[in-house]
Amino acid sequence: MLRDRFGRTIEYLRLSVTDRCDLRCTYCIPTGFKGFEEPEHWLRFDEIERLVRAFARLGTRRVRLTGGEPLLRRNVTTLAGRLAAIDGIADLSMSTNATQLGRHAEALRRAGLGRINVSLDTLDRACMQSITGRDSYQQIMAGIMAGKEAGFDPIKINMVAMRGVNDGEIERMAEFCIENAFVLRLIEVMPMGETGRNTAYLDLREVQARLTKRFDLVPQALELGGGPARYLATRDGRSSIGFITPMSQHFCATCNRVRLSVDGTLYLCLGQEEKFEFRPLLRGGASDAELEAAIRAAIELKPQQHDFTARPEKIVRFMAQTGG
Ligand code: 5AD
Ligand code: SF4
Repeated sequence: MLRDRFGRTIEYLRLSVTDRCDLRCTYCIPTGFKGFEEPEHWLRFDEIERLVRAFARLGTRRVRLTGGEPLLRRNVTTLAGRLAAIDGIADLSMSTNATQLGRHAEALRRAGLGRINVSLDTLDRACMQSITGRDSYQQIMAGIMAGKEAGFDPIKINMVAMRGVNDGEIERMAEFCIENAFVLRLIEVMPMGETGRNTAYLDLREVQARLTKRFDLVPQALELGGGPARYLATRDGRSSIGFITPMSQHFCATCNRVRLSVDGTLYLCLGQEEKFEFRPLLRGGASDAELEAAIRAAIELKPQQHDFTARPEKIVRFMAQTGG
């Protein structure tokens, strides 16, 4: 088991397979951004698999494929199959924007991908275009439905709540998710990069109070996925809504994860600079024992908590660079 300096068990690896994306969400990738990682720096599938095997030997049980948009990485389904087959990896999932999910859902499911989370901030086509910079409403909705057809269960819908942008659409999104048996999770925007900092923050505590009344929600004891979301459920117990509040009520004390970016940099926290480079080891002939020792050393660097509130200007990298 990997344990950090603060007694937290680290058993969850979020793995970015590309920093590129076909969307430009206003809080994420800056429009016109040119600084994407060079392809020769992307970890290759054999390198990723080897590293994940080492993590699994040290107790990692869950892996999530992230991006950028993970479905833009060529043959990502093959990678999913290889990771799903690793001894010890009990839960393989993906965070996607669903634009390409229509084409990939079936094959991903067959490859052994268990769960998907979809980023969806609005159900209004024009609003979606203004948030994502593209008119991809139809493609995204078709992708989500293809995911449902393929049998992904649960499908979680991640909605970044932005004051004055989509806060008036939260109830409608909740209804959509209840109807389709999706799990809605509302997320507070974090000041990651210029884009995150320039986004109008909405404290979810007020939204939670509003939704509790409107949908007659009650606290839910059940854990859904072992992440930081706190869930409320409808009284019939059939639907739940999660609140992810890194800003208003941070959950650093129970953080169980680290993030590997596409170039093989392990980031120990979204809101801190601590990192460890694995590419030089992987390409420099490190043994399995050396890889494991490096992972242990990296986990030692994990900071106690983010600094988003005290120092919102600190993190210049946006989400797709660390890995969602
Ligand atoms: N704050 C909060 N969430 C963010 N995401 C991207 N940037 C930010 C930010 N600054 C989320 C997206 C998606 C996931 C990949 O990361 O909404 O759900
Ligand atoms: Fe792409 Fe996701 Fe970032 Fe939006 S939030 S630009 S979909 S990586």
